[in-house]
Amino acid sequence: MNKSRMSRRDFLKSAGALAAVSCLPVSMVELAFADSRKNFSFAHISDSHIQHISGTKFVRNWDRGLIRAVAETNLLVPKPDFVVFGGDLAQLGKKEELDHGAEMLSKLDYNKVYCVMGEHDYYLDLGDYWSKLYGPHYYSWDHKGVHFVTLNSVITYDKWTYERWPTAMQRMVEMAGLDNPNGSPFMVGEKQRDWLRKDLEKVKKDTPIVVFSHSPIQKIYKGWNFWTEDADEVQALLKPFNDVNVIYGHVHQVQYNQIGNISFQSVMATAWPWPYPETYAQAESHLPKLTVPMNRADPFFERDATGWQVINVETGRAAIKYNLYNNTNRTVAFNPKTGHPEDIAFQNPARRIPPQTHY
Ligand SMILES: [Fe+2]
Ligand SMILES: [Fe+2]
Repeated sequence: MNKSRMSRRDFLKSAGALAAVSCLPVSMVELAFADSRKNFSFAHISDSHIQHISGTKFVRNWDRGLIRAVAETNLLVPKPDFVVFGGDLAQLGKKEELDHGAEMLSKLDYNKVYCVMGEHDYYLDLGDYWSKLYGPHYYSWDHKGVHFVTLNSVITYDKWTYERWPTAMQRMVEMAGLDNPNGSPFMVGEKQRDWLRKDLEKVKKDTPIVVFSHSPIQKIYKGWNFWTEDADEVQALLKPFNDVNVIYGHVHQVQYNQIGNISFQSVMATAWPWPYPETYAQAESHLPKLTVPMNRADPFFERDATGWQVINVETGRAAIKYNLYNNTNRTVAFNPKTGHPEDIAFQNPARRIPPQTHY
């Protein structure tokens, strides 16, 4: 596109906006600027599970999922302010995998990429090498009137971590399985909860809060570790605030829920989707009641439920647009009338679309 035409159009747009603002009474102007603090978006990519085979060989399909997410995120207009990576960058926490993943993430044309720890990144060396690439395991920051927090929600009991396994790689492999009974429930832990309590002391009650975690900070299905053991304690710390959003990876599927003032939403993996617990666990439904499961074909066609997200918190509550590689895109956003997140197209049973077919 011709650059001078673009800047002329941009100039006209801002001139128009200025003229419109100058006609408003003072209180309305303040309101307009107060709202614009939250007027931004960010991209969220998660669960790429980069897997080393040998030498310079990696599982190509997982590479492709992440490469595609990075390329598409770079093309967004308007450009989001930053990118979050939601954890499980690697499959077995190996240096080769974390380096290869970091190399692909370095292609993101963004100043800031915030990373969350996944169990597949953590259990080989307990996050040591990950830290060299991405810094602390948990941290917070403020951006345009919103307080963001990143937690490492995948730690577990010391006995399991330090005493049970003869090698670090065996510990990693035992935690990597979805339904392995040798695994151990995820948790945030007391040390991080103390840090979170102190971190939130300086935040005003009407400041929107977005918490990024890898596991759900809810108790959804323990058998697959769609679970955080100390979820209730973490939720209690978030309770005093008006607008709280928890955005998590790990489950490789669309889930959303509302517990008190806290809206929960999951993000997709770029690698593969997990099945829904209610369809495969052969037990009562373990999915949050609000969640409309996606129209999956079957667990063997992995691309109908992989993708990445664009998120805004303009209302104080997250609206997540899921960009899906081989399925209809969808948006799950907080509905102030019902007080919980909803799929804006498919919450209504009459509007749901049938499962994908093979081709
Ligand atoms: Fe994952
Ligand atoms: Fe995970």
